[in-house]
Amino acid sequence: MTCYLKLPINARRRSSTPQWRVSALLLATGLLLPATHAWSDAAPNATPNATPNAAQQLAVGVCATCHGARGISNLPKIPVLAGQGEAYLTAQLHAFKTQTRGDADAIGYMWGMAADLTDEQILNLSHYYSTAAAPTPATVSTRQAVTAQITLGAHIYTQGIADRGVPACSACHGPDAHGLGDFPRLASQHAAYITKQLLSFQNTTRDVAVMHAVTTTLKNAEMTAVATYLQALP
Ligand code: HEC
Ligand code: HEC
Repeated sequence: MTCYLKLPINARRRSSTPQWRVSALLLATGLLLPATHAWSDAAPNATPNATPNAAQQLAVGVCATCHGARGISNLPKIPVLAGQGEAYLTAQLHAFKTQTRGDADAIGYMWGMAADLTDEQILNLSHYYSTAAAPTPATVSTRQAVTAQITLGAHIYTQGIADRGVPACSACHGPDAHGLGDFPRLASQHAAYITKQLLSFQNTTRDVAVMHAVTTTLKNAEMTAVATYLQALP
């Protein structure tokens, strides 16, 4: 996916029905065609009904276009949701809805998606994805350059970079990167997505104090290294 959406925010936020907005988003991203039949199946149940079953239909009929039916996306800039922590997913959906998580991709893709979700739908969607099985990482290349990145990434993840004040990521995200409490899972996430988030924390377009402090002195090559390491973790 190379085309990133640049609709005026107001057109996306306060226009007519959610169905209209979602269709417009998908059309604008060129994604509607493969999803047409799934979307029309899900549309009648997509809005006020907040049962777990309706959340599942919403996930399969709408979110799946980008995130995959069980939360495993094939697109490197679209995050894997399967196996992610429930409380973290809930917090992020609220952050999109209240427009406090705001880098360009969050604005372009997720503000419109989350705008009309009810609290109950958010809880049920978060439960659906957190209980879906996380992906099995692809076999890692043995090319020297990749091996070197993974070695550096593992070092940063488990020990940080002491002389530049970068803490060990494992302290918060867990030794296996499966997440701890409210701290998100990072294992088997797309490297391109992780790198992009680290840049957004650094430049505060995704404004989270703790991750801004972690990334302040991190160099781009170090971000790529830790992301490559994390993508390969089961
Ligand atoms: C048109 C594509 C698209 C659709 C449809 C879509 N998303 Fe997303 N979603 C994205 C992108 C792109 C991001 C990453 C945004 C960023 O880089 O900050 C994202 C991020 C997220 C995140 C944050 C994950 C994390 O690890 O922080 C959650 C949660 C999420 N989406 C849930 C949903 C749900 C639930 C739906 C359906 C109601 C949905 N998405 C529909 C594209 C989409
Ligand atoms: C002091 C605790 C702490 C440390 C240390 C830490 N993180 Fe985080 N990290 C967080 C929190 C909290 C969040 C959730 C931010 C939010 O609420 O949006 C997060 C979010 C992230 C995300 C976004 C995940 C997603 O799905 O969008 C990435 C990527 C990440 N951290 C990578 C790292 C890396 C790499 C390191 C080490 C260099 C690191 N973190 C160290 C607390 C920490």
